[in-house]
Amino acid sequence: MSQVNIAIDGPAGAGKSTVAQQVAKRLHLLYIDTGAMYRALTYIALTRGCPLTEEHQLRRLLDDIQIELMSGENGQTVYVNGRDVTREIRTTEVTNHVSLVAAYPSIRERMVELQRNMAEKKSVVMDGRDIGTNVLPNADLKVFLTASHEERARRRYQELLERGIRANQSQLGLDIAERDRKDSQREIAPLKQAEDAILFDSTGLTIDQVVDRIVALYHEMKERA
Ligand code: DC
Repeated sequence: MSQVNIAIDGPAGAGKSTVAQQVAKRLHLLYIDTGAMYRALTYIALTRGCPLTEEHQLRRLLDDIQIELMSGENGQTVYVNGRDVTREIRTTEVTNHVSLVAAYPSIRERMVELQRNMAEKKSVVMDGRDIGTNVLPNADLKVFLTASHEERARRRYQELLERGIRANQSQLGLDIAERDRKDSQREIAPLKQAEDAILFDSTGLTIDQVVDRIVALYHEMKERA
Protein backbone atom coordinates (compact mmCIF):
# COMPACT_ATOMS: atom_id res chain seq x y z
CA MET A 1 0.00 0.00 0.00
CA SER A 2 1.97 3.04 -1.17
CA GLN A 3 -0.50 5.83 -0.56
CA VAL A 4 -2.92 6.00 2.36
CA ASN A 5 -5.79 8.37 3.06
CA ILE A 6 -7.61 8.69 6.35
CA ALA A 7 -10.91 10.60 6.59
CA ILE A 8 -12.09 12.02 9.91
CA ASP A 9 -15.54 13.61 9.95
CA GLY A 10 -17.88 14.73 12.68
CA PRO A 11 -19.77 17.64 14.20
CA ALA A 12 -18.28 20.89 15.54
CA GLY A 13 -16.22 20.54 18.69
CA ALA A 14 -15.83 16.75 18.57
CA GLY A 15 -12.05 17.17 18.67
CA LYS A 16 -11.45 16.30 15.02
CA SER A 17 -8.69 18.82 14.34
CA THR A 18 -6.59 17.95 17.39
CA VAL A 19 -7.07 14.22 16.87
CA ALA A 20 -6.48 14.32 13.11
CA GLN A 21 -3.36 16.42 13.56
CA GLN A 22 -1.87 14.00 16.09
CA VAL A 23 -2.79 10.92 14.06
CA ALA A 24 -1.05 12.52 11.07
CA LYS A 25 2.04 13.24 13.16
CA ARG A 26 2.22 9.69 14.56
CA LEU A 27 1.81 8.11 11.12
CA HIS A 28 3.94 10.67 9.25
CA LEU A 29 1.08 11.69 7.00
CA LEU A 30 0.07 15.16 5.84
CA TYR A 31 -2.72 16.77 7.86
CA ILE A 32 -5.37 18.73 5.99
CA ASP A 33 -7.98 20.73 7.91
CA THR A 34 -10.70 21.34 5.32
CA GLY A 35 -12.75 23.48 7.72
CA ALA A 36 -9.82 25.94 7.73
CA MET A 37 -10.27 26.37 3.98
CA TYR A 38 -13.95 27.35 4.34
CA ARG A 39 -12.97 29.59 7.26
CA ALA A 40 -10.22 31.28 5.22
CA LEU A 41 -12.65 32.17 2.46
CA THR A 42 -15.22 33.44 4.99
CA TYR A 43 -12.59 35.59 6.70
CA ILE A 44 -11.36 37.15 3.46
CA ALA A 45 -14.94 37.81 2.32
CA LEU A 46 -15.71 39.55 5.63
CA THR A 47 -12.56 41.70 5.50
CA ARG A 48 -13.07 42.67 1.86
CA GLY A 49 -16.74 43.43 2.30
CA CYS A 50 -17.83 40.69 -0.10
CA PRO A 51 -21.50 39.95 0.77
CA LEU A 52 -21.86 36.45 2.18
CA THR A 53 -25.29 36.19 0.59
CA GLU A 54 -23.80 36.42 -2.93
CA GLU A 55 -22.63 32.99 -4.04
CA HIS A 56 -21.20 34.18 -7.38
CA GLN A 57 -19.14 36.92 -5.80
CA LEU A 58 -17.80 34.50 -3.22
CA ARG A 59 -16.89 32.03 -5.92
CA ARG A 60 -15.02 34.74 -7.84
CA LEU A 61 -13.22 35.68 -4.66
CA LEU A 62 -12.23 32.04 -4.13
CA ASP A 63 -10.81 31.90 -7.66
CA ASP A 64 -8.78 35.06 -6.94
CA ILE A 65 -7.11 33.92 -3.74
CA GLN A 66 -4.64 31.22 -2.91
CA ILE A 67 -5.26 29.23 0.26
CA GLU A 68 -2.30 27.23 1.58
CA LEU A 69 -2.10 24.90 4.56
CA MET A 70 1.35 24.26 6.05
CA SER A 71 2.03 21.75 8.81
CA GLY A 72 4.77 22.50 11.30
CA GLU A 73 5.84 21.82 14.89
CA ASN A 74 3.20 24.23 16.23
CA GLY A 75 0.32 22.78 14.27
CA GLN A 76 -1.09 23.93 11.00
CA THR A 77 -0.59 27.42 9.62
CA VAL A 78 -3.12 28.81 7.17
CA TYR A 79 -2.06 31.33 4.54
CA VAL A 80 -4.14 33.38 2.14
CA ASN A 81 -2.07 34.91 -0.65
CA GLY A 82 1.02 34.34 1.50
CA ARG A 83 -0.42 36.07 4.60
CA ASP A 84 -0.74 34.09 7.83
CA VAL A 85 -4.43 34.10 8.86
CA THR A 86 -4.30 31.16 11.29
CA ARG A 87 -5.63 33.14 14.25
CA GLU A 88 -8.03 35.36 12.34
CA ILE A 89 -10.02 32.42 10.92
CA ARG A 90 -10.92 31.22 14.46
CA THR A 91 -12.81 34.33 15.60
CA THR A 92 -16.45 34.03 16.65
CA GLU A 93 -17.45 36.19 13.69
CA VAL A 94 -15.92 33.77 11.21
CA THR A 95 -17.23 30.74 13.15
CA ASN A 96 -20.78 32.08 13.08
CA HIS A 97 -20.75 32.80 9.33
CA VAL A 98 -18.79 29.90 7.90
CA SER A 99 -21.71 27.46 7.59
CA LEU A 100 -23.45 29.87 5.24
CA VAL A 101 -20.42 30.09 2.95
CA ALA A 102 -19.82 26.31 3.13
CA ALA A 103 -23.38 25.59 1.97
CA TYR A 104 -22.97 27.09 -1.54
CA PRO A 105 -22.65 24.39 -4.22
CA SER A 106 -20.13 26.27 -6.39
CA ILE A 107 -17.92 26.96 -3.36
CA ARG A 108 -17.99 23.31 -2.28
CA GLU A 109 -17.30 22.15 -5.82
CA ARG A 110 -14.04 24.13 -5.98
CA MET A 111 -12.99 23.33 -2.40
CA VAL A 112 -13.50 19.60 -3.00
CA GLU A 113 -11.42 19.84 -6.17
CA LEU A 114 -8.59 21.51 -4.23
CA GLN A 115 -8.84 18.92 -1.44
CA ARG A 116 -8.76 15.97 -3.82
CA ASN A 117 -5.72 17.43 -5.56
CA MET A 118 -3.89 17.54 -2.23
CA ALA A 119 -4.81 13.94 -1.41
CA GLU A 120 -3.71 12.73 -4.83
CA LYS A 121 -0.17 13.93 -4.33
CA LYS A 122 0.42 12.72 -0.77
CA SER A 123 -0.93 10.39 1.91
CA VAL A 124 -3.18 12.49 4.11
CA VAL A 125 -5.30 12.63 7.21
CA MET A 126 -8.13 14.95 6.23
CA ASP A 127 -10.79 16.22 8.60
CA GLY A 128 -14.11 17.88 7.84
CA ARG A 129 -17.78 17.07 7.40
CA ASP A 130 -17.98 15.34 4.00
CA ILE A 131 -14.57 13.72 3.63
CA GLY A 132 -15.68 10.08 3.93
CA THR A 133 -18.94 10.61 2.05
CA ASN A 134 -17.82 12.90 -0.74
CA VAL A 135 -14.23 14.17 -0.91
CA LEU A 136 -12.43 10.84 -0.43
CA PRO A 137 -15.07 8.12 -0.81
CA ASN A 138 -12.28 5.55 -1.26
CA ALA A 139 -10.34 6.56 1.85
CA ASP A 140 -8.56 3.59 3.45
CA LEU A 141 -9.90 4.41 6.89
CA LYS A 142 -12.95 6.50 7.75
CA VAL A 143 -13.74 7.67 11.25
CA PHE A 144 -16.85 9.57 12.33
CA LEU A 145 -15.85 11.29 15.54
CA THR A 146 -18.47 12.59 17.88
CA ALA A 147 -19.00 13.52 21.55
CA SER A 148 -21.94 14.60 23.68
CA HIS A 149 -23.28 18.09 23.11
CA GLU A 150 -22.22 19.20 26.64
CA GLU A 151 -18.70 17.89 26.17
CA ARG A 152 -18.34 19.63 22.82
CA ALA A 153 -19.43 22.97 24.31
CA ARG A 154 -17.03 22.46 27.23
CA ARG A 155 -14.12 21.69 24.88
CA ARG A 156 -14.83 24.75 22.75
CA TYR A 157 -14.90 26.85 25.92
CA GLN A 158 -11.53 25.46 27.04
CA GLU A 159 -10.04 25.91 23.58
CA LEU A 160 -11.04 29.61 23.55
CA LEU A 161 -9.85 30.09 27.12
CA GLU A 162 -6.42 28.72 26.17
CA ARG A 163 -6.30 31.40 23.49
CA GLY A 164 -7.16 34.04 26.08
CA ILE A 165 -10.81 34.39 25.05
CA ARG A 166 -13.43 34.11 27.79
CA ALA A 167 -16.73 32.98 26.29
CA ASN A 168 -20.12 32.01 27.67
CA GLN A 169 -20.31 28.21 27.70
CA SER A 170 -24.08 27.95 27.29
CA GLN A 171 -23.96 30.41 24.36
CA LEU A 172 -21.19 28.28 22.82
CA GLY A 173 -23.48 25.27 23.22
CA LEU A 174 -26.24 27.08 21.34
CA ASP A 175 -23.81 28.19 18.59
CA ILE A 176 -22.57 24.61 18.17
CA ALA A 177 -26.14 23.26 17.94
CA GLU A 178 -26.99 25.88 15.32
CA ARG A 179 -23.89 25.13 13.26
CA ASP A 180 -24.60 21.37 13.43
CA ARG A 181 -28.14 22.02 12.26
CA LYS A 182 -26.96 24.07 9.26
CA ASP A 183 -24.15 21.64 8.39
CA SER A 184 -26.43 18.58 8.63
CA GLN A 185 -29.41 20.03 6.80
CA ARG A 186 -27.75 21.67 3.81
CA GLU A 187 -28.55 20.11 0.47
CA ILE A 188 -25.01 19.54 -0.79
CA ALA A 189 -22.76 17.07 1.03
CA PRO A 190 -24.28 17.50 4.49
CA LEU A 191 -22.58 16.35 7.67
CA LYS A 192 -23.32 12.62 7.68
CA GLN A 193 -21.59 9.44 8.72
CA ALA A 194 -20.39 7.43 5.70
CA GLU A 195 -21.80 3.90 5.67
CA ASP A 196 -18.34 2.41 5.94
CA ALA A 197 -17.09 4.83 8.60
CA ILE A 198 -16.30 3.72 12.13
CA LEU A 199 -18.35 5.68 14.67
CA PHE A 200 -16.26 6.85 17.58
CA ASP A 201 -17.76 8.62 20.58
CA SER A 202 -14.97 10.46 22.36
CA THR A 203 -17.05 11.60 25.37
CA GLY A 204 -14.99 11.08 28.52
CA LEU A 205 -11.87 9.99 26.60
CA THR A 206 -8.60 11.88 26.42
CA ILE A 207 -7.15 13.00 23.11
CA ASP A 208 -4.37 10.42 23.51
CA GLN A 209 -6.89 7.59 23.97
CA VAL A 210 -8.74 8.58 20.81
CA VAL A 211 -5.49 8.98 18.84
CA ASP A 212 -4.21 5.58 20.07
CA ARG A 213 -7.41 3.89 18.95
CA ILE A 214 -7.35 5.42 15.48
CA VAL A 215 -3.65 4.58 15.04
CA ALA A 216 -4.46 1.00 16.10
CA LEU A 217 -7.32 0.87 13.55
CA TYR A 218 -4.90 2.09 10.89
CA HIS A 219 -2.40 -0.69 11.69
CA GLU A 220 -5.20 -3.31 11.68
CA MET A 221 -6.30 -2.00 8.29
CA LYS A 222 -2.74 -2.18 6.93
CA GLU A 223 -2.31 -5.76 8.11
CA ARG A 224 -5.48 -6.78 6.31
CA ALA A 225 -4.46 -5.01 3.06
O1 DC B 1 -14.24 22.10 11.37
P1 DC B 1 -14.54 23.60 11.44
O2 DC B 1 -15.40 23.98 12.59
O3 DC B 1 -13.31 24.43 11.36
O4 DC B 1 -15.38 23.87 10.09
C1 DC B 1 -15.85 25.15 9.78
C2 DC B 1 -17.14 25.04 8.98
O5 DC B 1 -16.86 24.61 7.65
C3 DC B 1 -18.21 24.13 9.53
O6 DC B 1 -19.26 24.86 10.10
C4 DC B 1 -18.72 23.35 8.37
C5 DC B 1 -17.83 23.67 7.23
N1 DC B 1 -17.14 22.51 6.66
C6 DC B 1 -17.78 21.85 5.66
O7 DC B 1 -18.90 22.19 5.30
N2 DC B 1 -17.14 20.83 5.04
C7 DC B 1 -15.93 20.43 5.43
N3 DC B 1 -15.33 19.43 4.78
C8 DC B 1 -15.28 21.09 6.49
C9 DC B 1 -15.93 22.13 7.11
